[in-house]
Amino acid sequence: MHEIIQEGLIKLKIPKYQKISKEMEVFYNPVMSLNRDISILLLNSINKNNLQIADPLAATGVRSIRFLRELGKNKIKKIHINDYNEDAIKLIKENFALNKINYKNDNKIIIKKDDANLFLLNSAGFDYIDIDPFGSPNFLLNSAIVRLARNGILAVTATDTSSLCGTFPKACLRKYWAMPKKDAVMHETGLRILIRKIQLVAAQYDKALTPIFSYSKEHYMRIFLRNDKGKNKVDNILKQHGDFNNAGPVWLGRLWDKSLVNKIFYNAINNRIFKQNKDLINLLKIIKEESKMNAVGFFDLHDICERNRIRHLQKKEAIINKIKKLGYEAGETHFKGEGVRSSISLKKLINVLK
Ligand SMILES: C[S@@+](CC[C@H](N)C(=O)[O-])C[C@H]1O[C@@H](n2cnc3c(N)ncnc32)[C@H](O)[C@@H]1O
Repeated sequence: MHEIIQEGLIKLKIPKYQKISKEMEVFYNPVMSLNRDISILLLNSINKNNLQIADPLAATGVRSIRFLRELGKNKIKKIHINDYNEDAIKLIKENFALNKINYKNDNKIIIKKDDANLFLLNSAGFDYIDIDPFGSPNFLLNSAIVRLARNGILAVTATDTSSLCGTFPKACLRKYWAMPKKDAVMHETGLRILIRKIQLVAAQYDKALTPIFSYSKEHYMRIFLRNDKGKNKVDNILKQHGDFNNAGPVWLGRLWDKSLVNKIFYNAINNRIFKQNKDLINLLKIIKEESKMNAVGFFDLHDICERNRIRHLQKKEAIINKIKKLGYEAGETHFKGEGVRSSISLKKLINVLK
């Protein structure tokens, strides 16, 4: 049984489902439309056209079909769409027809039914590779990085947040080579652990991967990294690995390229459809401010008040203003509603809260 839905500017045929799981005939998660929105905004915000794009785990084809409909006119040189599931390939083709795109006569569009690693390794390389699996991205990192072009962008989703955020610390050590910590800042720690792991895989090939946009939301984490080639650049990345909050090692560098974040935000609020998506705009607004700050980690105001027996919690905006008046950077964080990112020390923050 199938149904037709709308996502972004496209129509999509998807299997009718009871529950979103790996066992779905062909995977589609409506919650991930925001993940796809951000990919579109990011690609439309970079100064590069004529991209060779790879969608190795395409499922319904939603991401690629949206790219074809929603990316700027000259963005795509070729889009390579792959899934090893026969039903997925059938549905991708039906979804092209549904959107009146004649993939057979368009040499921009290549559809493959291969194992994703073979699909990547048998290619001539890509400027943008989107790894969007169910669970850990580990199984595809090596091939994707090997085939990532100079200045190319690697986009990675991870939905196995239980290991990255510390519910299963041993699994995190095995899979991500670092110790997580289950506490108020666990999502940031987990995201930084994942970034370091991707950077270590890339370092083997003298590729320096710098995060340009990252976030954590509900059940998943997402990172976009830009590839620079060169031994010195790689050494410089590795220097920014270290322990944080008794966990790690993690990536201690920046999570965003702030000028890119600005462009993404303004592109979103100037887009007819995106500007109506409160969830998306709110996330981008917070990240726009967050990306201006250098501080690693954030303070959980509830947690600090509880630990220090502070009964009355002032409004977050008031606290942020007071910290700024003391000369420190401070602002909201998208990782947690009760969180404040700031360069102030814990001791001084407790004084402010009191
Ligand atoms: C989470 S879904 C992808 C969702 C999609 N990227 C989107 O935006 O809707 C994962 C897909 O990867 C495919 N897949 C998993 N392992 C694969 C592999 N080794 N090679 C090729 N496809 C694979 C599955 O068949 C499934 O369709």
